[in-house]
Amino acid sequence: MVIQKRQPFFYDTTLRDGNQALKKPWNTQEKVEIFNHLLELGVQAVEVGFAAASDMDYDACTTLSEISEGKVIISALARAVEKDIIKAIESVQTAPKKRIHTFIAMSEFNMKYVLNKTPYEVQKIAVEAVEFTKRNLDKSGEIQFSVEHFGDCRENLNFVIDTLKKVVRAGATTINLPNTVERYRVKTFVDMVAKVYDALPKDITIGVHCHNDLGMATAATVESYFNGAVQLEGCVNGLGERAGNTNLLEVAVALHNSGVDVPLNLGKIYETALTVSEMSKIPIYEKAPLIGPDALAHRSGIHQDGAIKTKDMEKGAYRPIHPSLIGRKDDAEKLEFTSQSGKTAVFEIISHAGYPITLQEAVRITPTIKEAAEKAGELPTRNIIDIYFKEVFNVKGPFKLIAFDKISDDKYNLKFNHNEQYYEVQGIGNGPLDCCLSALKQAGFEYKLAHYQQIALDEDILGAGATAMTVIKFVLPNEKAIIARGKDESTSNANVKAVFNGLNIIAKMQ
Ligand code: KIV
Ligand code: ZN
Repeated sequence: MVIQKRQPFFYDTTLRDGNQALKKPWNTQEKVEIFNHLLELGVQAVEVGFAAASDMDYDACTTLSEISEGKVIISALARAVEKDIIKAIESVQTAPKKRIHTFIAMSEFNMKYVLNKTPYEVQKIAVEAVEFTKRNLDKSGEIQFSVEHFGDCRENLNFVIDTLKKVVRAGATTINLPNTVERYRVKTFVDMVAKVYDALPKDITIGVHCHNDLGMATAATVESYFNGAVQLEGCVNGLGERAGNTNLLEVAVALHNSGVDVPLNLGKIYETALTVSEMSKIPIYEKAPLIGPDALAHRSGIHQDGAIKTKDMEKGAYRPIHPSLIGRKDDAEKLEFTSQSGKTAVFEIISHAGYPITLQEAVRITPTIKEAAEKAGELPTRNIIDIYFKEVFNVKGPFKLIAFDKISDDKYNLKFNHNEQYYEVQGIGNGPLDCCLSALKQAGFEYKLAHYQQIALDEDILGAGATAMTVIKFVLPNEKAIIARGKDESTSNANVKAVFNGLNIIAKMQ
């Protein structure tokens, strides 16, 4: 088991491996834009293209080399073929820090059926390609060699290791081990990486380059780091052939969470992901880890409760990171309301929308909101607020207010129905609320008021010109307290509406 002491080295292949799988590969200008994001993210090396692939890619390699100003290592890919290597060398000529990355497949299957060559021939090509690069590249340039299909080399790993020792003697300083097609267990691949690490001189950098055919590329890359690989290759958003490459952004966060000192500006992750998504025209999947629109959303009551209790903490009950770590807004951690959700979500959604509510009220109106969600699915905030208005400010029940008219400061006339029976009573007291309660008492409805609050409102908060809100608390014979609200343009009407909402809430409870 290798104890990893070296800092990870992020080698980005978005502009090469990611680009080669796009429906419309990027031109130079587009590559420049992404390159600038990669610089801000702080990757250590960028593979800028496959210079021999097309004039457009060659042009991008030269431009990015020119603008790199030594901020990052610029790497160009070349098959182990002299004309490709020459093109690659020419294309990165002006980069202050440059690398040529050459490769050949070494799995028995590929050597036999694709390359049509014997292992001996392949070994010779590999070594000669590196020697050729060494002879033609500036002294300051580095050489990276990749064993294409390394993940398929279980049967001939000794041959691979033997070849790599020769490749290193020929001048390669980085040995990259691709899982070109992900077919097997992560552990199988990682064990092979560890064997190569053990066999090669310790001043050689081991890289891994994992494709994501089985969806385990991030795991393979992360575990490879703990087994000797320092150079971690991948693409932003996991772009690449078929199911793509390792998503480098996920690797960065997984290592960070595991206590590794990650040499990236993690706060740039989200912005970089959005740019690459836009420019690749590949939308970010709703459930994409970390960056998906839904990746930090909570819908079940239990999760919502845990999420709220740990909202401002670095570690959250139901999230892998605080959204700010990768540059997402705090509200990326959001609560959505479905039939699986509960009172915490009701309380949070309504409070967050700027409306007054207590947890007790949230508990009371949750069943109605859940019922709506059972029929409609996830409820938009607007629908939740509509229900809130009905259930808090316009509670339906046996009591119906008809009129509340002032006779004098200490005398009001109250007209109402209870279960279709009409009442008209005058109440005497100290102000409208007292008068209303006194009238009700005379009609046979006596309630104990424990709390009263009058709140002046900004006109538009509760709509319909309401400028006054009354909040009252009734205490029931069983000592239970209920909160009720009323809103109106006039204080006295807000009072009486709060009382009637309260009466109907109590009636529903009985
Ligand atoms: O997937 C792969 O094997 C590659 C090599 C060229 C490194 O992309
Ligand atoms: Zn690849």
